[in-house]
This record gives sequence, structure tokens and C-alpha cells, in this order.
Amino acid sequence: MRLAWTTDIHLNFVKAAGRQRFLESLSEAADAVAISGDIGESHDVEAYLREMQDHLQRPIFFVLGNHDFYRGSIVETRSAVTRLAAQAPHLVYLSATTAVELSPQTAIIGHDGWADARLGDFTGSTVMLNDYRLIEELRGWRREVSHPRESLRRVLQELGDEAARHFQQALAEVTGRYRYVIVITHVPPFREATWHQQQISDDNWLPHFSCKAVGDVLLQAAEANPGCQLLVLCGHTHGGGEAQILDNLQVLTGEAEYGRPEIQRILEIA
Ligand SMILES: [Fe+2]
Ligand SMILES: [Fe+2]
Repeated sequence: MRLAWTTDIHLNFVKAAGRQRFLESLSEAADAVAISGDIGESHDVEAYLREMQDHLQRPIFFVLGNHDFYRGSIVETRSAVTRLAAQAPHLVYLSATTAVELSPQTAIIGHDGWADARLGDFTGSTVMLNDYRLIEELRGWRREVSHPRESLRRVLQELGDEAARHFQQALAEVTGRYRYVIVITHVPPFREATWHQQQISDDNWLPHFSCKAVGDVLLQAAEANPGCQLLVLCGHTHGGGEAQILDNLQVLTGEAEYGRPEIQRILEIA
């Protein structure tokens, strides 16, 4: 089986003809597709997923990224997408699934993840992502009179912890049973994987570009299961790179440009 990995395709910035070309390239290249988030925005992500499934007619394993919740709510978008995937034969929303077997040796797991403000310097950071005004659950901090940033930090950490709990459960299911585990998540789980413009992100950007809670869980699982190879595929920072965290824990971060969706890699699943 050939699995094509793509990320940060932001289809809301791509015209119909460009989307068609991208889908053709996926059709030719792969038997299944993995998407590590940022597909569209809250009002159109379902339509893009439907379009992909209608065209591709093969398994599409995906998670959502922060942009997929823009102009909407995380809880509502996740519910709507979970409902869509439950009815669609080829769409697999990994955040709503524990693990899927790709072959007797290989399983795939995933969760949206969230940049959880734990790495770098959140208090001193001058970065103000659009997330913090365009996503319902992340907007409330502005109304806080005392310590508004602390209230935002709490929400970000809760989102990171939620992702970590999902991975803890999914990893427990697969690490003893499969030799290879493919992990799909939107936000890089380690500092070493936060590639942005050919560099690792600095302390100003790290709080918004990494999910430490998920990284901790992955590290623990890899250390406890040396016979299991974990390959993490993520995006969000739009700068491509590789990070070898342990002998059996590798992270690939996808390179992405708005308006130019691309296949990052084709994986041969043994
Ligand atoms: Fe993105
Ligand atoms: Fe993103």
C-alpha cells in the first residue's frame, strides 16, 4: 500500500482547477492519503473533505489543524466532522478513532493536537495568532480583566492535554502489537520539529508552534517500546524538516505554501 502524506493544504486558498489537479496527483500516487490538518476553515472543511472523498474513493486518514476551526468553534467543528466521517465510507477522522491497522505490521493513529504554550516563552511572546480571535473557545481571554494571558494559557494547555490523553490511549493499543506506528498530528510535538523558514522556532514562536504534552507521551511510549518504530507526521509551521528524537522516534514536519497543496511524501506500507 502506498500512503501519500500531505499537510496544510488550506484548500480555501486554492481555486477549483487547482484542487482538481491536486486530487489527480493524489489519485495517481497513492492507495490511501494521510492529512495532518489545516484543510480549510470551519465553514468549508466538511465540503473539502467530501470533495476529496468523492474524487479519491480511497481511505483518507486525517486530523484537523487550527485553521479548520477559524470562524467557528473547536467543539462544534470536531462534532460535525466526526458525524461526517461516521457516514462517509472513506473518511477516517483519527481524533475520533483510537487506531487503524494498515497492514499486519503497521498501524496509524492521530489527533489534531494543539500548540499548548509550554515550550518557549509564552509570557514574553509577542506573537498573536489569528487563532486567539477567530476561534470561539480561544476568544474569551480578551474579556478577562486580570491576567488575560494566563486564561488563554490555561485553554491552550487543556487542548494540549486532551490530545495527549488521546495519544496515551491509542499508543497503549498499538505499541505492543505493531512494529511500525504512523502518528498524524497537526502541531509539532517537539522543539526540534518546529521548522519554520529553514530554522527551528525560537522562544517567541515555540509556545504557538509546539505541543509539549503530546511530545511527552510519544517520548515515553517510544522509550518503553524500543521494538516499535514511531514515525510522526505533522505540519502547522509550514517549514519542512526532520527530527530524530530517539532511534525509534522520528518526526517529519511538512513544508507548505498557501495556495499550493503538495504531496509531502509517499510511504510504502509493508
Ligand atoms: Fe497551516
Ligand atoms: Fe496550523
